[in-house]
Amino acid sequence: MPRSNQVEAPSTDEVIAGEARYLVQTYTRPARVFTHGEGAYLFDATGKRYLDFAAGIAVNALGHADPEWVQAVAKQSTRLAHVSNLYHTAEHVQLAQRLVEHSFADRVFFCNSGTEANEAALKFARKYAFVRAAGAATGTRVIAFENGFHGRTIGALSMTAKPQYREPFAPLVPDVVFLALNDLDALAAAFDGHVCAAIVEPIQGEGGVNVASAEFLRELRRLCDESGAVLIFDEVQCGLGRTGSLWAHTATGVYPDIMTLAKPLAGGLPIGAVLVTDAVAAALRPGDHGSTFAAGPLVCRAAQVVFDRVSDPQFLARVAASGAYLRDRLLALELDNMLQVRGAGLLLGAQFSVPVKPLIGAAAECGLLLISAGDNVLRLCPPLIVDQAQIDFAVETIGSCWSALQ
Ligand SMILES: Cc1ncc(COP(=O)(O)O)c(C=O)c1O
Repeated sequence: MPRSNQVEAPSTDEVIAGEARYLVQTYTRPARVFTHGEGAYLFDATGKRYLDFAAGIAVNALGHADPEWVQAVAKQSTRLAHVSNLYHTAEHVQLAQRLVEHSFADRVFFCNSGTEANEAALKFARKYAFVRAAGAATGTRVIAFENGFHGRTIGALSMTAKPQYREPFAPLVPDVVFLALNDLDALAAAFDGHVCAAIVEPIQGEGGVNVASAEFLRELRRLCDESGAVLIFDEVQCGLGRTGSLWAHTATGVYPDIMTLAKPLAGGLPIGAVLVTDAVAAALRPGDHGSTFAAGPLVCRAAQVVFDRVSDPQFLARVAASGAYLRDRLLALELDNMLQVRGAGLLLGAQFSVPVKPLIGAAAECGLLLISAGDNVLRLCPPLIVDQAQIDFAVETIGSCWSALQ
């Protein structure tokens, strides 16, 4: 059946000209316009089909237009979309209950994006330190990591290492120290009594798909406990089933005091969540933080559908199996210049010795959407519902495009 957005879509050229004329130019986009999606596929305005191995930057866990998600969103939108956090609604309580019952956390604070979740985590860590100090001077130092990415608002940006993102916006929040991931010696030296929080992605996404070792996270946990600092895991990209476990940190046996989530949680609608222990929550009072839009009934109903699907052990086992298959097939390509495949589940990074931009461009021409994580790392983060035949197509396309480029 034809879709109305297909029939009425303006031409590719009209959209691109309109973008250049009306939008603030903070993005560089390829010259194609997407009109709709179905499962792991996206379609552009010319009708061309693409296998989507970007998934909206690790957002579309259930793919596009998942029937159950569509039905739940459509039904909820006819009842209630937004009332603000001035009032009670059932849907955010139901979502928070699911998150608490499936994690280390006792309570949840909702917001609208990953950066907001990290912004809230920073405020919560500061308030926790302030309450704990009971009037004495508090340490405000935050330990963060090189190649970490936590978002673009000032607090989250302050904890993000990349100089290009930071420098034009200085001064940022002071007293953030960046250490090398997995460097145990640097870690021990940094905890000097002034630290109020450490923030780490158990698997760094944007920074190159770098895995924090269990040993490193254990030592970080120990140092936080010893000094009274809170440990924040940013699972905005690696959490919610992407690694084949519900949470990326589960595989390490190390648990945080605060965990931030966003990207896939509502299947493409904007949401963020900050999961905390009771000890952290006890430091917070009405008025300490808030958001007009956060956790409205529409987005929370969408998130319930996503959460129920991705937290199913059978679903997670399929993600783990798909990830292992993808990794094996990538390695079997034995591409010149591909140095390593790292990551977990369906968050994989193929490290090349040369830039991957030409490969991404060539693959898109062949109907495969890929993204990078830094110049030389191809990031593979398809929808979690990707099947074996789709993985075969992706790997074969990567192989043939790479050969054609040599
Ligand atoms: C680990 C991590 N944290 C935070 C963010 C920021 O999320 P958002 O773009 O929703 O603000 C991202 C986005 O890529 C991320 O990968």
